[in-house]
Amino acid sequence: MTTAERPLSATVDRLLTQLEEGLPEGEVPASIFGNSELYDAELRKIFGRCWVFLAHESEVAAHGDYTVRKIGEDNFIVSRDEEGEIHVLFDACRHRGVQVCRSDSGNSSHFRCPYHGWTYSSDGALVGAPLWKNAFGGMDKSKNGLTKAAQVRSFHGLIFATLDPSAPPLEEYLGGMAWYLDLIFGLDKDGLEILGAPQRFVVDANWKSGSDNFSGDDYHLGTLHRSVWSIGAFPVPFSENMMGYHVQAAKGHSLSFSMAEDANEPGPNFFGFPEDLAEQFDTSRISEEQLEIARRARVFVGNVFPNFSILALPMSEDGANHAPTGVLTIRTWQPKGPGQIEIWNWFLAYKNMTAEQKDRAYRAGLGTFSVGGSFEMDDTEPWITVARTGSSVAAEVLDFSLNYQMGMPGVGIASKVDDWPGPGIAYWTRYEEGVQRNLYQYYAEMMRAKPGEWPENTL
Ligand code: FES
Ligand code: FE
Repeated sequence: MTTAERPLSATVDRLLTQLEEGLPEGEVPASIFGNSELYDAELRKIFGRCWVFLAHESEVAAHGDYTVRKIGEDNFIVSRDEEGEIHVLFDACRHRGVQVCRSDSGNSSHFRCPYHGWTYSSDGALVGAPLWKNAFGGMDKSKNGLTKAAQVRSFHGLIFATLDPSAPPLEEYLGGMAWYLDLIFGLDKDGLEILGAPQRFVVDANWKSGSDNFSGDDYHLGTLHRSVWSIGAFPVPFSENMMGYHVQAAKGHSLSFSMAEDANEPGPNFFGFPEDLAEQFDTSRISEEQLEIARRARVFVGNVFPNFSILALPMSEDGANHAPTGVLTIRTWQPKGPGQIEIWNWFLAYKNMTAEQKDRAYRAGLGTFSVGGSFEMDDTEPWITVARTGSSVAAEVLDFSLNYQMGMPGVGIASKVDDWPGPGIAYWTRYEEGVQRNLYQYYAEMMRAKPGEWPENTL
C-alpha cells in the first residue's frame, strides 16, 4: 500500500468533514491553514497528483539548459536535451539517491553524481560511471536513468508536470481555465517571455493563503494596499476597481477581472499594457469573446489549482514620475511545511514588446509586486498570522472557523451573470468569495479522492 492509499488519519478526516459541511454555509475551518497532519496528506494527495507549474520554456531556451524546481517539497530538474525536448527529472541518483544537480540552473549536456560518479545525459539516461566494466559491466543502463515525472506538458510556454500517471491531460485538468489562460498568454500570437530570473523568498505562511488571495481577494486592496493610491501606483479608484467579474472557471480554478460595466468606458484596457502595443498584437489565436474581455480588463488575477497564480494589472513603481504600465507576474506558493512557503515570482512580457516597454514593465513590477516592492510585503504579513491562527490550539479546541460568505445569497450585492461569454460561472461585482469556496471545494474532493480517481472538474 502506498502512502497515498493509506486511510486519512482521524484528525485529517475530521478537518475535511468540517470543511465539507462548512462550505455550503461559507465557513472554512481555520486549522486547515496550519495542521501538520493535514499538510502531510496534502503533499501526497494534492502535490503528489495534481499538475503543477515548474518553469517557462524561455528559462530553458537552449539545448542543454536546465533549472531545478519543486513538485511539493521535492527537487526536479527541468532540462532541455540535445534534441530540444523538455524533461522533468527527479533529482535523485538511481544508485543511492544522492542529489545529482548542485546548481539552481545552468547549461550542461550531463549531470554527474558527486558520490560515485554515475553520469546521466540531459534527457535523464544513464550513460556511464567510473570503471564501468569492473563495477557494472553487464548491467542494463537503460533501466537506471533518472526517474521522470509521470506527465509533462507545455501550455503557452508554461511547463507543467504531474507525478500521477492517472492524471487527466493538462488541458482537461485546466478545463474552462484554459480559455482564460489563452486570453492572457495567447493574446499576442508570439506569446511571452520571462524577464530576468525568478525571485524567491521564504514566508512563514501556508501555501493556501497565496492561492486563496489570487483566486480573487480583491476586497483587501482598499485596506491592506491603500498606499497604492496615495503614491499614484494604480490608476483605478478602489470602489471602481471592485466592479468586474469573479469567475469559477472550473472546479478549483478561479479568477477575477476588474472591468467597467460600460464596455465603452475609457481604459486602462488590456491589463494596462500600452494601447498602441495592444493594437500591434496579432490576436488570431483567440476568439472575439476572449479579445473583448482582454480589451476591457483592467486587472486579471487568478489561480490554477493548487498553487500557480497569475496577476496582470497597470502598476507604477513611482506614480509621480511614471504612468502605470502593464505588469504581468506569475507565482507559485511552494510548500515548505504547514506554516512556511517559498514564493517564486516571475515577471513576463509579450515577446513583441520593444526593449523599452519590457524595461518599463520590469521596473514597475520590481517596484511593486516583488520582494523589494512596495506592495508584496503588505500581503505576506497577514498570511503569517493566518498560519499562526491555523496551527493554534485555540482554533482546534474552539472549532474556530473563517467566514467566506461574501456574495452568498442575501449577503452583499454580487449576483450571478447569465450571459457571460466564457466558460464557468461568473458573478458581477467582485464583492464575492465564491471563487475561494470553489478552491476549497476541489481541494476537499482531491483530498478525499482515492489513488487513480479524479473528481469531475466541470461546474
Ligand atoms: Fe550517485 Fe552512487 S549515489 S553514484
Ligand atoms: Fe494583495
